Parts: sequence; C-alpha cells; structure tokens
Amino acid sequence: MNTRNDAAPVLIRLSDYRAPAWRVSQVNLSFDLGIDDTVVSSRLHLQRDATLQEPLRLDGEGLELLSIALDGQALPEGQWRYENGVLEVEGARDGSLLETRVRVRPAANTALEGLYLSGTREGGFLLTQCEAEGFRHITFFPDRPDVLASYTVTLRADRARFPVLLAGGNPDGHGELEDGRHWARFVDPHPKPSYLFALVAGRLQQIARDYVTARGRAVKLVIWAEPDAIGRCDYAMDALERSMRWDEQSYGREYDLDVFHVVATHDFNMGAMENKGLNIFNAKYLLADPDSSTDDEYRAVEAVVAHEYFHNWSGNRVTCRDWFQLSLKEGLTVFREQQFSADMNSAPLKRIEDVALLRRAQFPEDAGPLAHPVRPAQYSEINNFYTATVYEKGSELVRMVAGSLGRDGFRRGMDLYFSRHDGHAATLEDFLRALGDANGVDLMPYLAWYAQAGTPRLHARGHYDATQRTYALTLSQHTPPTPNQPHKQALPIPVKLALFRRDGRMIPLHLAGEPAATSGGVERVVVLDRAEQTFVFQQVDAAPVPSLLRGFSAPVILECDYAPADLALLLRHDADGFNRWEAGQQLAARAFDNLRDGNDTAALDAWCEALSALFAEGSVDAALLADLLTPPGEIELAERERVVNPSHVHALRQQLQESLALRIGREALHARHQALATPAVVALDAASQAQRRLKRRVLELFALLDPWAAHALGTQQYDSAPSMTDRLAALVVLARGNAPQTRAALLHFRERYADNPLAMDKWFSIQAQLPAEVVVERVRELEADAAFTLKNPNRVNALFGAWARNNPDGFHRPDGSGYRLLAERLVQLDALNPQVAARLATAFNGWQRLEPTRRAAARTAIGTLAAQPGLSRNLTEIVQGMLHD
Ligand code: TRP
Ligand code: ZN
Repeated sequence: MNTRNDAAPVLIRLSDYRAPAWRVSQVNLSFDLGIDDTVVSSRLHLQRDATLQEPLRLDGEGLELLSIALDGQALPEGQWRYENGVLEVEGARDGSLLETRVRVRPAANTALEGLYLSGTREGGFLLTQCEAEGFRHITFFPDRPDVLASYTVTLRADRARFPVLLAGGNPDGHGELEDGRHWARFVDPHPKPSYLFALVAGRLQQIARDYVTARGRAVKLVIWAEPDAIGRCDYAMDALERSMRWDEQSYGREYDLDVFHVVATHDFNMGAMENKGLNIFNAKYLLADPDSSTDDEYRAVEAVVAHEYFHNWSGNRVTCRDWFQLSLKEGLTVFREQQFSADMNSAPLKRIEDVALLRRAQFPEDAGPLAHPVRPAQYSEINNFYTATVYEKGSELVRMVAGSLGRDGFRRGMDLYFSRHDGHAATLEDFLRALGDANGVDLMPYLAWYAQAGTPRLHARGHYDATQRTYALTLSQHTPPTPNQPHKQALPIPVKLALFRRDGRMIPLHLAGEPAATSGGVERVVVLDRAEQTFVFQQVDAAPVPSLLRGFSAPVILECDYAPADLALLLRHDADGFNRWEAGQQLAARAFDNLRDGNDTAALDAWCEALSALFAEGSVDAALLADLLTPPGEIELAERERVVNPSHVHALRQQLQESLALRIGREALHARHQALATPAVVALDAASQAQRRLKRRVLELFALLDPWAAHALGTQQYDSAPSMTDRLAALVVLARGNAPQTRAALLHFRERYADNPLAMDKWFSIQAQLPAEVVVERVRELEADAAFTLKNPNRVNALFGAWARNNPDGFHRPDGSGYRLLAERLVQLDALNPQVAARLATAFNGWQRLEPTRRAAARTAIGTLAAQPGLSRNLTEIVQGMLHD
C-alpha cells in the first residue's frame, strides 16, 4: 500500500527464486478490533532451514510496532531493525517463538489492502484482503505463498458494534468479555499461505444452508451481507451448492471444513477472493435479483461463486510456490469455472463469450507495450499481473493441454496433480509433469506457451489436387516480437478441424501416413509444432471448405484467405455453434474491410445475406442468433488496423450494422421486437434469457434504421420492463442514440435506485457510453455528482472504466481532452488506491498505434503522468511500461 516510489523500482525475478530460510509452522493471532485502531498480537513458531545462513527477516508494511519478544524475552532495541518494509531480528533459532504486537488503522486504509473498513464508520464493517501481499499490512510475517502455516485466530471486539466475528477455519469457541466486548476463536486445520488469511467483523446478516458432501461431511454454508442486501443472496447460495456438487462429480473434489462463509462488500478492488473458508466478494458478483441485475450479471455471479469455490482445491489445497506461478491457480481455476458454466448453461454460448473476452481483453494486452508471458519473468508490483493474460490466456493453455489428454486422461492427470501436491506450494512445471506422468506423455513442450508473450499468427492455406483426390493443408506459425522478447520460438498449436463439402456436409478424414484405426472421423486435431507443416487428407472428392481451429482449439489469430462464400457456407452450415459464430465474425471483419477500403462488397453482401436468411428462418436458438447478429467490437476491429482512428472504427462498425439492419428490413425487425413478448414474471431459464438477449439486439439494430421509432419503442420498453435486463437494454439504446427521452429515463432510474449502489453504478456506466461528442463533458459533470466518489472502486470503474474502455471513440478524442482528464484523475486516485489506479491506467494501452494527432496527445498525457512525483509503485510500473517502445 502507498509505497511511494522515489527510488528506482526494484524488479523481482523468477530466476532469483530461493526457498525460504525461515518458515512458520504455527501462527496464533489475536485482534483487538476497532475502526480507527486495531491491535494485532502475533505468536510465530519459527522453523529454520539449517542449510541456509540467513537472519530472520519478516515482511511488514506500515505497521506501528508496540512490542516484540523472542522466546519469552522482550527484545532490546539493538536486536531488531524495522525499515523499508522488513523487520530483521537477531538471535532467532530453529523452534523459536517470536511475539509481536502492532497497531494498524483500518478506517484510514483507502487502498483496500490489509485490514480496512467497508462502508461508513457508523454502519460499515471491517474486513481483510491479503492477496497478494496484504498480510504484511496486518502483521509481521514471511509474506510469500511458499510459507504454509497453521492458523489459530482470536477476534475481540465490542459486541454491539461488531456482533458478527468471522475468520477462516472451523469455529473454536466464543464468549463474553468485560465492558460489552466479546470474543470468537477459529482454528484452520489446513496449513495455508498468508495470502489466504481473512477476517470479517461487523453488523452483518446471514442466510444459511446445510450441505452434505459426497462422502458425508456435513458443512454449514453461510452467506453474509449487510441488512439491505441479504435478500439478494439466494441465487448465490444456489450457485454455491451447484458448484460444490459439480466439483465432486467432475473432479472428485470435496470441501474440507465444517463451515464455508461467503461475505459481500461494496468496497473491493477486484471481483472476489478465495480466502480459506471465508470467501469475500465484491457485491457485484454476489447479489442478484431480477429488478436490479441483468441476465449477464446472474451468469457472472454463478461463475464467480464457482471460481472462488473451485480455488479451494486449485489454489488453496495446492497453492503457488511464488507469484510467478499465479496462473497455476488462476488459469486453472478460470478453466474449471468455464467448464462449470458450460455445463450449467449452453456450452457453445459460453465458448463464444469466453473467446470474445479473450479477444477484447487479452489480445490487445499481448499486442501492446505491457505484453507479458502467462508466467512473467519479472515484475515490480505483483498486483499489476492479475491480468487477462494470466487469467484468460492461462485458461486457454490449460484447455489445450486438457484437450490433448482427452476427458479421462485429463481427469487422471488432475487426480495425480492434486494428490501429489496437496498441502504444498507448486509450480507450473509440477502441473505439467503431473498431468504428463499420469498419462505417460511429455507435456513440457507446452511450457513454451507459458514463457512466451504475444499472440501467435496461424497461417493456413489449402491446396486441392483433383487427380490425386488429396487436400493438402499447410499450416505455419509466426509470433510478432513483444517488449524484451524480440525472437519467438514455434509453439505446439493444436488445430481441431473438419472439412466441408459445398453442400454443407462434413467429409470423413483420412490423413496420409496414419493408421486406419484413427481414420474416418469427421473431426480431428492436428498439432503444428514447428514453423510450418503440411497435412495431406486423402479420398477427398472435391475442393473442400476447411473449418479450422474448431471450438477455438488454440489462442491464436487465424489467417486464412477464405473466399467470402466459404465463410458464408460455414456460417450457414457448421453444426458447431461456436464455429458458426466464428465464421460470422471472420466474415464481418472482412465486411468491415470492404467498407473501409470501399473497393468491393463481396464479404459485406455475403455476411448480410447469410444473417438475414438465418434471421428469417427461425431455426437458430435466439441467444445464438443474437450473438451471430453482433459483429466484433470496436476494440477487436481496431486490433486489425495498423493505424487506429477510433472515430473511424466506430463509424464503420455502425455502418456495418446498418447494412445488416437494412438487409433484414425495418418491418422484420419491428415485428420480431413485438413478437419477443415480455412475460410479467421474470424467469431465468435459458429460453427466457435467450429471448431477452435477442430482443435487445433487435432493438439495437432497429435503432440504426429508424431511431425515432426505436426510441419510442425503447421508452415503452423502459417503462414497462419487469427485469433489469430489458430496462437497461432500452436505456442503453436511448442513451447511445442520444434520444431526447434519455433525460427523463435517467432521472427516473436515479430516483428509483438511489439506495442501490450496484444499480447506481449502471446509471454512471450508461452515461459513460454517450456519443463521443458529448461524453467527456458528461463524465466531468458526473464526477461532480454527489453520488460519485473516487474512494469506491466499483464507482470509479462504472464511470471512468466504462468510459475509457468501453467507449473508445468517446475516450480517444482528437483534442486530447479524454487523455488529460483520465491522467489528472489517475493522480488523485493513485493517492487513495494504487491498485485501482494502475488497473485503470491500462486503458491507455494501444496508444502507440493511434493516428498521429491522437498519438501525440496521448503521449503528452502519459508523459505528464509519468513525471508526477510520488506515484505508487503500482502506477509507476504501468505508466513506465506504457511508454516502452
Ligand atoms: N484471487 C482472486 C481471484 O479469485 C483475485 C483477487 C481478489 C485479487 N482480490 C485481489 C488479486 C486483490 C489481487 C489483489 O481471482
Ligand atoms: Zn481466481
């Protein structure tokens, strides 16, 4: 927290890893909790590695040391030293007991790392966030994930102010103290790293459910929230139960404590946190009700609840040796979460959503100045590495490995991984080795994916030989250089493929040089593991259309010079929902090029033609149809440009959608919007969600053809919507179209949801997406609104994040006003919350490829920001990296 950077930043390197010289076997903590002052007493049972001669050094940030004793004796001044975040103690031996008492100040902690106050002094509650290095803000400790200790935690506090006292582990007694105070103790039987420690204290209410694991362990599940939010926790409870059951069935993993607590807070830097036995959630990912949550948010709650729960095995029971291995837990857990969500909902829709996210968030990261491998080689501030690369690309790497082992092989590998490393801190090599050992294969070639940044380009070209009846598919790969990695090596790229006949049927595959046994299926995986390789398919009667990278079998950019008609064929006929969407996306991107270059319109015609036919037929599921009708977003389209003009990209994408709307027709769109009736009771089943999704898309397209009529429809929809999904869809159409009705609707929304912070976040976000010419002005007005505060991360992201990330045209103003505003605000935000400031600053990513006017303006704003004295290590690393060429 607030480690202001005046000296040169210190780089932590993977290659410098050393096992700890000192470990802690047992830690006893007791807290005398107070909002302004909390006193933390700690007893550490130390273990020393006899082979290493190092003094005892413990991490500690911003701690006021009240007392220190070693083996029962108060330590005199000369025998300890506390400076630059390190407490060095002389005279400690193997088996020593170190006792410290420190004071910390929760209410003054605006960084939301360590022990802090959520909400107001009067009504709020205390909680902790320790990942990655927050524990050192609470007490002195070897704060690194390879030090696993057993925790006993005693909380003491005023009973009236803090009726609920929680810490990770099983309850181990509670009672009364003098002066209206009380205490509660918790013992965690599972050794854990310090980043998984958590406590919560305050006035919270609960809902509870009894759960019995497959092997018969009774577990009490409890969700805690503030009184005004506890009524919105039931969906999360259901999702938790589904997650627990799913992990038992899919991975044979059971929960391992008597209680599982989940707590909601409105003040949180990230999505949620998997603290052992005491998960803490950003309220945004826990609370859900039809009146204030959209369908997308329901699915996000389900996914995040599952994600944090799954960490109990992938992260907690088997943890990371060091923070370079972060993807060991995050990539794996995202993958498990994606599998779960696919099982609970629609698998192809989930895959579409995940790939769209990867392209929107990770590909730009991999292509920009902050590009880093899934396992970075060095960092200055670890909090800056909770990125789309570590999470989403990390998940794609697990998916490739899992795919190569098959369902049963992967399960065998995971069983071995969990049993071999249970209770230990592991590395990515350990992961690949366990998976490989269980299947008698060598997966180490995949390690190269973890070490190499940048998105590989996969080039495919096919050649049909009518006389030989062969189809030769030549695949080659190339990864462009990234900062500090000028030369790239070839990676193993699994390419799942099928070949289509012109009539839309798949061709049985006979790969040359292959045993007959594996021959004849219509889909298979070939692995490109060198720069270039040719695969020859035999007994092919006519030139086929290849469907490549099915299910997005590798996180690469496919370059294949399909004719528009080929893509249209796949869009119409591919049975796989994902690949069908993918063909449409590629065709839409080509159509975008048509509009930009203005030469031919073959792709544009083919795209509009295929989609309007699908729209009319009604054979495609409504949700998939909605996704098919959505071209790649502006960020994705900009990634294809050598020089980016965001206004231009926005206008062309609008034009693209207009062409589509025109082809479908005003009447057909209007009729479909009317036909997608809105039942008075909001149901959450897949079909109901799909209807709402399509309805939204249809209204958006309609608004491009006939804004006046669409705004009238939108106003009606806003007024009568029974769900937030429909209400918000209507409001967004009004706002993006700058409809005159927007004002009244926004006023109404604000009145209605004044007491609901998550809904108010939407109120800010919608306005951050106003058309480019008016939005900077509006952002300035909104930050002066009484409901705005830089102290709340959700509110900051709702306004500044939604604007700078989701409204590229509105952020990248040619006069540089957007850049200046963001840079100014980042300085203020950094003084309060460096983690959130650093994350928001990544919105500048991609500035080097902007057209010259904007590039110069962005360069100036970033340079001014970089020159500010006293920036945090977090923001410094991002801003410096951003200036890198
Ligand atoms: N480990 C959390 C997850 O499930 C991420 C997280 C939550 C986090 N809070 C954080 C990371 C604070 C860094 C700082 O993905
Ligand atoms: Zn996680």
